[in-house]
Amino acid sequence: MSIFRTKSLDEMISAGESHSGLKKVLGPLDLIMLGVGAIVGTGIFVLTGTGSLTAGPALTLSFVIAAIACGFAGLCYAEFASTVPVAGSIYTYSYATLGEVIAWLIGWDLMLEYGLASSTVSVGWSGYFQSLLSGFGVSLPTALTAAPGAIPGVTTWINLPALVIMLVVTFMLALGIRESAKLNNFLVFVKIGVVLLFIAVGARHVQPANWQPFAPFGGTGVLSAAALVFFAFIGFDAVTSAAEEVKNPARDLPIGIVGSLAVCSLLYVVVSAIMTGIVPYQKFMGVDHPISLALKYAGESWVAGFTDLGAILGMTTVILVMSYGQTRITFAMSRDGLLPAPLSKVHPKYGTPFLTTWLVGVIFGLIAAFVPLHVLAELVNIGTLAAFCLVSISVIVLRSKRPDLPRAFRCPGVPYVPSMAIASCVTLMAYLSLHTWVAFAIWMSIGILVYFLYARLNSKLND
Ligand code: ALA
Repeated sequence: MSIFRTKSLDEMISAGESHSGLKKVLGPLDLIMLGVGAIVGTGIFVLTGTGSLTAGPALTLSFVIAAIACGFAGLCYAEFASTVPVAGSIYTYSYATLGEVIAWLIGWDLMLEYGLASSTVSVGWSGYFQSLLSGFGVSLPTALTAAPGAIPGVTTWINLPALVIMLVVTFMLALGIRESAKLNNFLVFVKIGVVLLFIAVGARHVQPANWQPFAPFGGTGVLSAAALVFFAFIGFDAVTSAAEEVKNPARDLPIGIVGSLAVCSLLYVVVSAIMTGIVPYQKFMGVDHPISLALKYAGESWVAGFTDLGAILGMTTVILVMSYGQTRITFAMSRDGLLPAPLSKVHPKYGTPFLTTWLVGVIFGLIAAFVPLHVLAELVNIGTLAAFCLVSISVIVLRSKRPDLPRAFRCPGVPYVPSMAIASCVTLMAYLSLHTWVAFAIWMSIGILVYFLYARLNSKLND
């Protein structure tokens, strides 16, 4: 019972190609839409304000740095995804390469990324939703608008809108991926439309004088902001977790990952340049609607109203894809015996892991209801950066362990590109706060305990 035992890669590949119960319905465009749906959300609509206070107009540079780190990691993801097209994302890939205990830790770590990201974005969604309601003169009872302790000096009990949106999304996912993907495509069009509208209207109001001084807080400010707005790129890897539901995974997965990352990088750099060009960055202090604030500042109030609505729809797709990713990872871990068996049961009619979908929705919905946004966001970042490092290591290991495997997409410059991915992710992690590191260490320690007390004893590899 070595903790470094591996699953047979060849068996996994043929299992993924054979009929596993999940429906194969997704094409390359669906995947790019799934990726963009997962990526553009709270990062651009909420965190750009905080980011510009840390970096100044050089926020554009922070986005470039975060994008480069994700680009290196994305190339590694693409190689894995096109080689091992089975459900479960890097959890599954690492089971075949680095051994069971590492795979378990990655799966455990991914709960910080997918699960907690869906909670985080639900909280951001709730803020925009309440702002839209207030535009119509409606306001919820204060106690129901935020998690306890979220607003200093104000008594709040529960973030009810955040919980409700998580449950609504869960309901849609439980009904099946085909319906969810269709809805996702529609919402992504609306979201990108709103971002393009901001670019078209905002560009006319840019005052280049606002870009001076460009980096008021120097390199440290730029890197700290990069560690924060990294959140804006999280999600492109969710594409890989759909592998078993893709019609032609070897070709389509790399297109989905690299394509969605490229589209979003371009949008972010342009949006942050325009935002800081319209408004002096100091004015973003305490603002959680930086994009609509910039438009109102420019006197374009009607466009600002549209962007509020677009942000709400946009963040809904992020919650959808993140929750989806979490359910498929739980599904894969259960199928391997590392989590209880009922979690990998597929619903006979809907073709979805029904129980897992509801369990994930309720648990992370409750977290969204009771934990403040800033606590969640940093944890998501550290969990994701750690996962990116592990996948980059896995690419190097797999190249030397199994050079013979057919790879539809080969990451260029191995081992240099994976090494650059690791170096850039570790650099960003170094700029996250100490309490985030402590919370991360506690979560992973619990994971190790659960592995030895449950997962290792129940693993299918024992048979
Ligand atoms: N990248 C996603 C967002 O910005 C998680 O909301």
